[in-house]
Amino acid sequence: MEEFVNPVKLDHKHLANCVVLPDRYAILNKLPSNAIVAEIGVLAGDFSEFIIRETNPSQLVLIDTFNIDDWSGNEYKRFYAKNHFDFVNQRFKNDIDGGKVVLKRGFSWKMLKEFPDNYFDWIYLDADHKYPGVSKDLSEAIRVVKSSGYIVLNDYIFYSHQEAFPYGVIHAVNEVCVNHDYEIIYLALHPQMYCDVVIRQIGCDSIKSKED
Ligand SMILES: C[S@@+](CC[C@H](N)C(=O)[O-])C[C@H]1O[C@@H](n2cnc3c(N)ncnc32)[C@H](O)[C@@H]1O
Repeated sequence: MEEFVNPVKLDHKHLANCVVLPDRYAILNKLPSNAIVAEIGVLAGDFSEFIIRETNPSQLVLIDTFNIDDWSGNEYKRFYAKNHFDFVNQRFKNDIDGGKVVLKRGFSWKMLKEFPDNYFDWIYLDADHKYPGVSKDLSEAIRVVKSSGYIVLNDYIFYSHQEAFPYGVIHAVNEVCVNHDYEIIYLALHPQMYCDVVIRQIGCDSIKSKED
């Protein structure tokens, strides 16, 4: 992707049911509990822990290459690349032993290929943020998610001012909406606009939140 290429434009039909939420944690109250879930891009497992606590998934598949240092924003590092996998493995040891959490180590789109069509109720996508990577992940995600399921994407932002490079999440999401008839049903804000979006197939109104 060239720098600063505009994403394809969404139409009203892609946004007609979109609700704005204060942050990504609010999304968890809107998605099904006791569900089969994947988080793609796990890092330390901080958001995974929220997913478990707030939605009690029947299965949570955590996919990551598990070979990077803890994020630099932390004043101390909980792990370095060489013990990244061990850190997450230890963190979720009880749930892994109980069969609720499954760790899969490898490239996201390759790991997703191991799952059958329509397997997941919802997927949280937060791995590679450049266009080619997000696009590959999304095309696998729309295959493995149920037709009534949801895909959440972190960092729906055009340019990452924290890292000083363009992200491809908006481009990849908008393309899926336009080319595969998906709609954005939630936009979850972030203080620096590293927003999350939740997408689903248009015409699928299975999602009525727990509060509705
Ligand atoms: C932003 S962090 C994930 C943060 C986590 N979702 C959270 O909210 O706490 C991105 C993670 O994606 C992983 N990652 C990046 N590209 C990947 C890829 N192509 N396949 C698998 N993992 C990838 C990195 O190793 C890193 O742990």
